Amino acid sequence: MSSDAQARWQAAASSLGDRSSYKKVWDRQATDLDLAWLSVAGHTDEATLDLTARGFIDMLRPAVGIGPNDIVLEIGCGIGRVGKPLSQECLHWFGADISGGMLGHAAARLRDRPNTTLVELATVGLQEFPGDAFDLVYCTIVFMHLFEWDRFRYVEEAFRVLRPGGRCYFDNFSLDSDHGWNVFMESARYPLERRPAHLSMSSSREELGVYLRKAGFADVRVHDLPNELIAATGRKPD
Ligand SMILES: C[S@@+](CC[C@H](N)C(=O)[O-])C[C@H]1O[C@@H](n2cnc3c(N)ncnc32)[C@H](O)[C@@H]1O
Repeated sequence: MSSDAQARWQAAASSLGDRSSYKKVWDRQATDLDLAWLSVAGHTDEATLDLTARGFIDMLRPAVGIGPNDIVLEIGCGIGRVGKPLSQECLHWFGADISGGMLGHAAARLRDRPNTTLVELATVGLQEFPGDAFDLVYCTIVFMHLFEWDRFRYVEEAFRVLRPGGRCYFDNFSLDSDHGWNVFMESARYPLERRPAHLSMSSSREELGVYLRKAGFADVRVHDLPNELIAATGRKPD
């Protein structure tokens, strides 16, 4: 490798390395309330936040079912956008996130919800939780920020922490959509050495389906959802 090529490779490797520093990247996005809201939702309006959360729950319900006795875990819960309304439909809602800063904002929003618990993840994975503990594990608007290996790690971990018969849901925006392809092409234009750590990365239907099947889930389905999202759902065999 020429010294020029080596220098470019190293620069690219270090910018990709930053993408793996999830805690650092997301704690930076959570330094103040407005920035946290903008990073999670793109706005700072509680009514809109509630509306979009209820829209998500309306998609989640037919895809995996939500029962009043369900113990539910959200991976990458941010400021508790979904947890706040969802906690009214289940027995207990757990929100896990790599960013303690985001969870600080979530705690304030969920102050009056005794059936909610927030857990800061030390690293990628769900080592803070025992096996067979949840009825439903879901993860929304998080995979686009993760490397593929880390996406799969969460799918594997969801399998472990779900009880037999438990259900899972994972979404991302689709590469095979106008938005997905535009994001892909815009990102491709960055010079390697200036590629930002936070670029959104889509998934294909095949990718999500493969992760769930390889992790051991049964009844795997990939759904086409509004807003050019795709989601894979599955059930841990009894
Ligand atoms: C765009 S926000 C979505 C929050 C929430 N799921 C929602 O729909 O409102 C992405 C969240 O993922 C979290 N996150 C990023 N990388 C993560 C990782 N490796 N493990 C767990 N959470 C992560 C961030 O801290 C942030 O709260």
